[in-house]
Amino acid sequence: MSSSQLASVAQRLKGKVALITGAANGIGLATAKLFHRHGAKVVIADIQDELGEKAYHEISSNGGDGAMYVHCDVTSEEDVAGAVDGTVAKYGKLDIMYNNAGYTGPSNPNVPEIDKTLFEKLLSVHVVGGFLGAKHAARVMIPARQGSIIFTASVCSVLGGLGLPAYCASKHAIAGLCKSMAVDLGQFGIRVNCISPYAVFTPLISGFTNMNESEFYNEASKHAFLKGVNLKPEDVAAAALYFASDDSKYTSGHNLVLDAGFTIGLRGNY
Ligand SMILES: NC(=O)c1ccc[n+]([C@@H]2O[C@H](COP(=O)([O-])OP(=O)(O)OC[C@H]3O[C@@H](n4cnc5c(N)ncnc54)[C@H](O)[C@@H]3O)[C@@H](O)[C@H]2O)c1
Repeated sequence: MSSSQLASVAQRLKGKVALITGAANGIGLATAKLFHRHGAKVVIADIQDELGEKAYHEISSNGGDGAMYVHCDVTSEEDVAGAVDGTVAKYGKLDIMYNNAGYTGPSNPNVPEIDKTLFEKLLSVHVVGGFLGAKHAARVMIPARQGSIIFTASVCSVLGGLGLPAYCASKHAIAGLCKSMAVDLGQFGIRVNCISPYAVFTPLISGFTNMNESEFYNEASKHAFLKGVNLKPEDVAAAALYFASDDSKYTSGHNLVLDAGFTIGLRGNY
């Protein structure tokens, strides 16, 4: 096999265009780098402009196909529509929309003290943001009769009691949104899937815990059945690559839980 054939085998997103929200940091950034390495043109969307520009420069300096940064607050329909339109204006199409932007809040308060504004913010970023991303991606994917829409949910999409109630409610809602969009958009050849990671040490986590990375992963490992492995942003990116690429051509409406078995059961002395 020639080196150019080898390169094309290795590049699972050659010729594709991806828009990733929350891509200035953490899981989104790892995914933007991986997608770009696999030949995609990548649009990094975030509200942290300095980090977003830095991500753009880092990715572009690796050569390969194009990349750009857009300021996009996923709770603003104008911003999301603008990011989608800007992507199509620059690269001619949108093949992959990864709704990944996320946020959490400070420690879990007692229910009567839950702040309504924070509750609404979490629903707005995750559910409204995910909905707007899917809506505007569908607007340009339907005429093309193809596309892959991906969401980052969480193990909080299948379990209660982890993190803030609003975080949990919003991640359950993303799993429902994913199924519903998969039903509605399948007729147009558009796949819609969701990734539900357990514990990944990213700025989202480090902002709200006193644990360092090693303490965090030790704690997470205590509650997972599969031992000896930790979940890194690159592992979530690998799952996103599967959903973004034609490898998942027959998969839609799926919620892929990445949790080393954390959610599969309980071990007790009965
Ligand atoms: N880290 C984990 O353990 C974990 C586990 C399960 C699910 N998740 C989910 O993964 C996703 C990515 O999180 P991460 O851990 O990489 O966190 P992160 O903080 O490293 O990255 C999240 C990014 O989203 C951006 N963002 C926040 N609000 C936004 C908005 N309104 N519009 C646009 N961008 C916005 C932030 O600026 C940030 O760059 C989130 O949806 C999160 O809920 C994370």
